[in-house]
Amino acid sequence: MKLLLNVLKRIHKPAVCSSQPRCRSSSARSGLLPLRDEALIVGSNPELVQRLGPQVEVRTGFITEEEEGAFMQELELGLKKKRYEFDHWDGAIHGYRETERVMWGERCEEVLSRVRSGAFPEGSPLLGPVHILDLDKTGYIKPHIDSVKFCGSTIAGLSLLSDSIMRLVKEDNAEEWLDLLLPRFSLYILRDQARYNFTHQILKDEESVFNGQRVPRLRRISVICRNLPS
Ligand code: OGA
Ligand code: MN
Repeated sequence: MKLLLNVLKRIHKPAVCSSQPRCRSSSARSGLLPLRDEALIVGSNPELVQRLGPQVEVRTGFITEEEEGAFMQELELGLKKKRYEFDHWDGAIHGYRETERVMWGERCEEVLSRVRSGAFPEGSPLLGPVHILDLDKTGYIKPHIDSVKFCGSTIAGLSLLSDSIMRLVKEDNAEEWLDLLLPRFSLYILRDQARYNFTHQILKDEESVFNGQRVPRLRRISVICRNLPS
């Protein structure tokens, strides 16, 4: 358990390039909207949204409120024993506690196999433990790219308890960005370039504005599946 958590810590490598696009009202410059759930992705320009579209997905209502409840029931006791961590000067995450789990009860397992079969290339070996990240209402995730040493081409996450905004920024060009609205109960998937060449972050409550629309960020729990590097 201890060992795995150490590995998890190393999953979060803060991005070297930390230049952030200025606080923008994205509506003014938002791209054309995409193929999938069009209300949920805006970007710096239409071409980028088009180009990255296939590598970024947000599926709303992927789980029901009951299924969220099943996750909470399995997770809440263990999480409550931990304290939110706030002061990791070099960490990518602020105001969080986390855990991981291999064995799940039936209801959660059912959801997770839906995630696995829907998000990952067939036959792709997955990271055994599922990662659970509990962000305090004041917590947030800074721009980072998941370690290529520990994670493969695909990252899939369920959002529990709160809506949030995930921002992707091109690692070598901060002018290129996408904002994803991640509603509570949704599943997001990042693949390939979106995973390797863009940093991702979860905005703090004060900055949580999607396409001009305020999106209150409450306590949020994500349940994240990853595959192994090939
Ligand atoms: C991470 C991460 C996103 C999320 O833990 O590396 O980016 O949805 N999490 O919590
Ligand atoms: Mn990450």
